[in-house]
Formats: sequence, structure tokens, C-alpha cells
Amino acid sequence: MTMGKPLPHDSAPLHVTGQARYLDDLPLPAGTLHAAFGLSTCAHGTITAIDLSAVHSAPGVVKVYAAADFPEMPDCSPSTHDEPLLATGEVHYLGQPVFLVIADTHLNARKAARLGKITYAERPALLTVDDALAANSRFESGPIIWAKGDAATAIANAPQVIEGTMEVGGQEHFYLEGQIAAALPQEDGVHIYSSTQHPTEIQHKVAHALHLPMSAVRVETRRMGGGFGGKESQGNALAIACAIAARDLNRPCKLRYDRDDDMMITGKRHDLRINYRTGIDAEGRILGIDFTHLIRCGWAQDLSLAVADRAMLHADNCYHLPDIRIESHRLKTNTQSATAYRGFGGPQGIVGIERVIDHIAHALKKDPNAIRKLNYYRAAGPTGPGTGHRIGSTYSPANSAPQTTPYFMEVEDFIGQDITDALEKSSNYAARRAEIAAWNSTNPILKRGLAFTPVKFGISFTLTWLNQAGALVHVYQDGSIHLNHGGTEMGQGLNQKVAQVAASVFGVDTAQVKITATDTAKVPNTSATAASSGADMNGMAAQNACQIIRDRMADFLADKLGSRANDIRFENGQVHAGAQSYPFAQVASWAYQARISLSSTGFYATPKITWDRVKGQGRPFLYFAYGAAVTEVVIDTLTGENRILRTDILHDAGTSLNPALDIGQVEGAYVQGAGWLTTEELVWNAKGALTTHAPSTYKIPACSDRPPIFNVALWDEPNREDTVGKSKAVGEPPFNLGISAFLALSDAIAACGDGSRYPNLNAPATPERILMAVQAQRHV
Ligand code: MTE
Ligand code: MOS
Repeated sequence: MTMGKPLPHDSAPLHVTGQARYLDDLPLPAGTLHAAFGLSTCAHGTITAIDLSAVHSAPGVVKVYAAADFPEMPDCSPSTHDEPLLATGEVHYLGQPVFLVIADTHLNARKAARLGKITYAERPALLTVDDALAANSRFESGPIIWAKGDAATAIANAPQVIEGTMEVGGQEHFYLEGQIAAALPQEDGVHIYSSTQHPTEIQHKVAHALHLPMSAVRVETRRMGGGFGGKESQGNALAIACAIAARDLNRPCKLRYDRDDDMMITGKRHDLRINYRTGIDAEGRILGIDFTHLIRCGWAQDLSLAVADRAMLHADNCYHLPDIRIESHRLKTNTQSATAYRGFGGPQGIVGIERVIDHIAHALKKDPNAIRKLNYYRAAGPTGPGTGHRIGSTYSPANSAPQTTPYFMEVEDFIGQDITDALEKSSNYAARRAEIAAWNSTNPILKRGLAFTPVKFGISFTLTWLNQAGALVHVYQDGSIHLNHGGTEMGQGLNQKVAQVAASVFGVDTAQVKITATDTAKVPNTSATAASSGADMNGMAAQNACQIIRDRMADFLADKLGSRANDIRFENGQVHAGAQSYPFAQVASWAYQARISLSSTGFYATPKITWDRVKGQGRPFLYFAYGAAVTEVVIDTLTGENRILRTDILHDAGTSLNPALDIGQVEGAYVQGAGWLTTEELVWNAKGALTTHAPSTYKIPACSDRPPIFNVALWDEPNREDTVGKSKAVGEPPFNLGISAFLALSDAIAACGDGSRYPNLNAPATPERILMAVQAQRHV
């Protein structure tokens, strides 16, 4: 059984030797053209004049397109047709593509794109959530409000009320490979290569732009150099631009954003302001709570409604909140259109309630974990014999009815309490808390801080129909296996996991399964590889296809030998029938000669989910993935400089399909999550220009920023739901563990001054913000 083995990423040798081919490495036919966008230098206004003569006459330029060249402007939006490929009269953000240059080389296209002379009648730009609120600029007629119980009354009757507000910054994806696409004209359509998490959407949007049926557009994605949600929808414009030029000029065309353009043009994680007000009892139990999310969505809708929904769906995190009201404003601003980013709004919801817990603990002078445990969801019952990991469970059969989330879904699988108990022990939490307090009392300049963050993350797309996947499997007559599924590889190791699933069905070595580029001509109507569901869904679809072929092979062999198909087993590269066994390749060859089909599609649709997003009620998720982290930091109170000293993580990947890949995902997600709330700061100036548009000014964590002590372990307990190999999705949930880095900084700041004031730290907690917060503590 190769499922569950810690095999390396299938491309690891290629990655580390530089041989892995990314789109820009593909040799394209001679005569390939190169495209670049000319960008708006105004955040909001009307184009009054557009002079592209210098662009036309620049060296190597073959063609220039602007709005006037299109009778009907192609749309790039994944949702509501509100994203024209090129600005049509109005500009909505600084960085918006206004014209498109096609030239003989990449550099000539880029140089020419700087030569456009565009004049604007500028209008005031809405840049902040306050600007948008004042102008009532939003994507829906008003805020979305979900409620359970009666929060207002519960808060009014509570012995104590805690309230606050928190600003949470956005985040640039900073995939190593920037956005890129290429289009090759075909006799009767177009062949697209795209660095995308969503080949089917590229196909759909290109077909629409070219007025072709989807069948005339084929999209291929071998791999991405990272996507992180930034390639769910943001690649549409590049593919459409290349397709238009390729069709028009009958030559291949490629478009690659350089890093600055990528950061200026494309959307990022949604930043937001969270207002909270909670009524608690004397011990710290949350009796009622009210959240307001003010979410900055940028100029176009993109995926913002679903992202904002997911933020609401994670406002509870691990806590049972009987009386709750959440109000969510999806605000339209003159900035890049914020988009999917690892966690898809979930982290923005979770950071709010974790801040509240921390605030309550500070007010009551208690350890935050004492508050957590008071408020946790009721523990799920044991999963049965043999799991052996239920340390200190609070489960009692007399008290086992599941509690419901704010959206009325029963939490049937809560293991947050068990993970907390285990991690408190393995990280030596209580003793270190005391040790840090003692250390801080004798160190006036440096202060240390500690924070614990649990996570519960819902798995499934909240747009129910997206929860489907397909696969196509061929067994060749020599026993080699060729597999395609609808998911895309972006570094997360999806292909290796799916290959392990397929190899397990046929009882062969994983290396015998070859997975090639994701291709809309092989598996149709796919969903984005997103919502962490890549392995869950494509693994199941591939398993289904493999089982169909295996059953045919078993029937055939049973027939041939006069035995029963049920007695045939596929193991260790052999097919066993009673006392006899034959190499897998031998049976494949016999089956071929007997005219048995050795090819099949497979399909999977996630069961059990029902969701009414308008009411905010139902079961949007098949299950939850859990985890917890403890982070220790130190700050320099004279400069605000800071460092993570140690991180301990226990993360739930169900029965892991591949523990090596899963631990890699947990480590990377944690560091990326910590980066979001600490060093990564996006700054727009008063004109709406993003001033942090390169690594010189935007600081993602470097290797040296990872915790020097980094203990990461997987919680080994099967998924209660019937997922592939009883595994759980792992891509996004551990991103939220990075919140512990932020709250540990807050804890260190709280140790300054006389301890009476709650730090009210905003994110990202850059050295400047930390320094200001320290000074505020010391001058109460
Ligand atoms: N890991 C790597 N190395 N690169 C990525 O781009 N994207 C993340 C996560 N892990 C990403 C990654 C995001 S946003 C998601 S939704 C999942 O991987 C998608 O892949 P999966 O569904 O196969 O887990
Ligand atoms: Mo991930 S944000 O769902 O691509």
C-alpha cells in the first residue's frame, strides 16, 4: 500500500536541479509574439485622451490594442462580468490595464507599454473602508447579516462586556513564478498554456472572448511555481490577451508579468477591519458576541462574496457561541480586486475570535487557554478502537449531542480539545508560560511572549456545485499507468498523492503511475484546485477510475482461471488468484488481447453538503480539519525588532496520504500565515498607488525567519467522514496557525508597562507598530 507513505514530491529532483519546466521554460514555435499591458496611472477617473503613437512606433511593436479596437470588450471576471480586459472609458484603480502591446520580444513589449500618453479627468478615489462606507460603495445592496440566538440581549445581560477593533492587512501572494500564459493558434481554435489553478475557467473565459465553443479551446497546465489562491482567477486576463492576439495575428503569443506589474495589477488577500463586542461571565465564558467585518474588496467583485462568507463561517473557530450576530460589509474601493488567498477568508474570521479570546484573558488576568477550554465545542465521541490518540478527552457519553455552529451545522468531529491537551504537554506550555513571566520581570529591554492558537477549518467549496471532480486513467498493455485528473500541481504535492492512491488500487509501485499536465481535453468541467480539496476530490475520482479498470481486470482473470473475481487481489506488483500470482503487466497484456477496455474515467461528488448562503444556514462543509500551534517570540522594546524563537505544532491531516508532504504543507502554511500578520505590509499612497510592489519594499519571510526550533507533528486519527484513505485536506488549514505568532507579539507587548492596558495591536505587526504599541503601554 503506497497510500500513507512519506514519499518525496514527484518533481523534487527536478525542482532542486532546476529541471522542472515552468511555462516560461517551454520552447515555443519560432515567431512567437510577446505581450504587455499599459497600465492606468490614475486610481479613479475618465480617460479623456489616449495617444498611443509612440507605442505603435516603438521598436518591435506588431500591434497595439485599446478599448476602441473592440466592438465588445472581453470580460475577465470569474463572477459578474465586471472586469473588462482593457479599461473602457473609466479607470477604477491605479494599475488597471488600459492598452495591450504585442511585440517581437518580451522586453520590447514592456518598453513600449511605458510610452502610452493617457489623460484622465480624475475623480476622488475610494481607497479605504471608511471611504467606501461613507460613499456606500459596496457589492451588495447592504451588509450580509447572519444571526443565531439573540446576541444583543445576551451581551446586555452579561456581567462584563469586552469590545475592540482591529485592523488586519492584506497579503501579496508572492508565488515564485509570476502570472504567465501563452496561446498557440490552431486550425479551428486555440491551445492555451496557463499558470492557473483553474484551467476550465481559462477555457471558459477564452472561449467567451473569442466567440468559440469551449470545445475549440484547450488549456494545459503542467505545474505552477506557487499559486496560493492568486491563480484562481487572476490569470484570466493574461490568457485572454494572448488568445486574442494569437487569433488575430495567427502567431503564438505569450504574456508574462514582471514582478512589479504582477503586484500592481493583480488582487491580493482581502484586508479588513473587525469590530467586536462580547458579553462574558466572571470566568470568561462567552455569553453573546457581535462581529462586524468591514472588508475591502477592491474595484471588481471577483471571488469577494465567497471570501467574505468564509470569513463569517470561521468567526467561531473552535468555540461554541450560542448567541452570535455577524455583519459583513463587502466594500468596493479603487484598489486592486482582492482575491482568493490561502484560507479564502477563513483566516480573517479566525483572527477575530482569537483576538477576542486573548482580550478576555487579559481583562480577567487568566491564561488564554483557560478561556479557550471554557468555550470550546463539545468533544466528539471516540472514533472506535485503535486510534489511541485521545489524550485527556472531555467526551462523556452522557453529554455527547453535537453543538451547532453559528450557521447551524452540527460539529460532529471536534477534536480541538484533545489536540490542545496533547500540544500543551508536548510543548511544555504551562511551565514555559511561568518561565517567560519570570524572565520578563527581570528584563526591561527585551520581552518575550507566548501564544497558543487552535484551528478548526471547514472543508468543501461553499458554492456547492464546485464539489465535483473527474479523472481519466489508462492502463497500457505493458502495465504502465497514465493518469489525468482535474486538479493542478502548484507545489503542494497533489500529483504525488493522487499517484499514491492509484498505485494502491492496482497494488503497484507509485513510480509506475505517470501523471501528466492537467488538460481540459482530458478531464472536462473541473473546479479550481482550491479550498484545499484537491486531493480529497481528485483522489476520489482517480480511485473510482482505477477501481473500474481493476474490477474489469479481476473479472477477466477470474473468468480465464475459472475462479471468483472476489478472490483476486492486486498487491506488490502482482495479481494474486488463489495460489497463483501473475505480474500486473502480464495480466494487463492478457486483458488487452482479450479485448477488455483498460481505460476509464472516474468521478466524485462530495456527499452530505447543503448550504443556503443567503440565510447563512446549512452544512457547507463535509468535515473540519483541526490543528494547534504554540509560538514563542521575543521583541526588542527599543526598536520593535522581533523574532520567533520556537514554534510547536500539532496538526490534523486525518490518516495522512503522505506525511512528508503534509508536514511540508504545515510548515510552509505556518510561515506564510505568520508573514501575513507580521512582516508583510502593503502600503498605498494618497493617490492610490501601491508603493510596496517589489521584494525591496514588501518583506515576505525568508528562510532565516522560520522558527529556529520548529516542532511539527501530525495528529494521527482517521477522518470520520468517508474521504480518500480517511485523510483530511491540509493545504489551507495550517495557514491559520500563524496567528499564534501575532498573538505572541501582542503577549510580549502586554508585558511592558504595568500590565493594565490591552495592547490592541493591529496587523501586520511590523517593528514600527510594535514599537508604537510598546510606547503606548509604557505611557498609560
Ligand atoms: N502549497 C504550495 N507549495 N504552493 C501553493 O501554491 N497553495 C495553497 C495550498 N498549498 C499552495 C500550497 C492553497 S491556497 C490551496 S487551496 C491548496 O494548496 C490547493 O491544493 P490542494 O487542494 O491540493 O491542497
Ligand atoms: Mo486556495 S485560496 O483555495 O487557492
